[in-house]
Amino acid sequence: MPNLYAATQHTHVALVVLSVVLFALRWVGVLANARWPLQRRARMLSMGIDTALLAAGATLWWWLQIHPLHQHWLGAKLVLLVVYIVLGSFALKRARRWWGKLLFGLLALAVVAQMVAIAQTRNPLGWLGL
Ligand code: HEM
Repeated sequence: MPNLYAATQHTHVALVVLSVVLFALRWVGVLANARWPLQRRARMLSMGIDTALLAAGATLWWWLQIHPLHQHWLGAKLVLLVVYIVLGSFALKRARRWWGKLLFGLLALAVVAQMVAIAQTRNPLGWLGL
């Protein structure tokens, strides 16, 4: 079981890297007025990676048997996940102006960096708690 836990954790982290790199590439593509970032293939790839990432995270959560209301770092991470998804959708599609997409994308990357810090420190304040 410890090996399986470690393998799932590594998979979770690898999928985090893939997910953020793909988001950043699509965002830069949107800013450059490219069409591929919003086409079906890119959307499906992103959705597949994100689904696997969430499934690996949920599996770790299940194995740890922790509650997000008691383990505040996990609660903060899940709240920020929703914020990241909303910011990401504005960065790629919903924001009408170029500078709006730029700003939402920067905010989304800052939020995901904070999620990584929260997961690594197990402190709900993440970088702010250092
Ligand atoms: C964009 C979304 C996410 C990011 C950026 C992220 C980031 C990370 C990182 C970097 C770690 C490894 C921490 C370490 O070095 O020990 C981690 C672990 C973990 N994540 Fe995520 N995660 C995300 C989504 C989720 C979700 C949705 C869940 C729960 C449903 C989750 C639950 C966990 C758990 C339980 C651990 C294990 C912590 C441990 O064993 O120390 N994560 N996450």
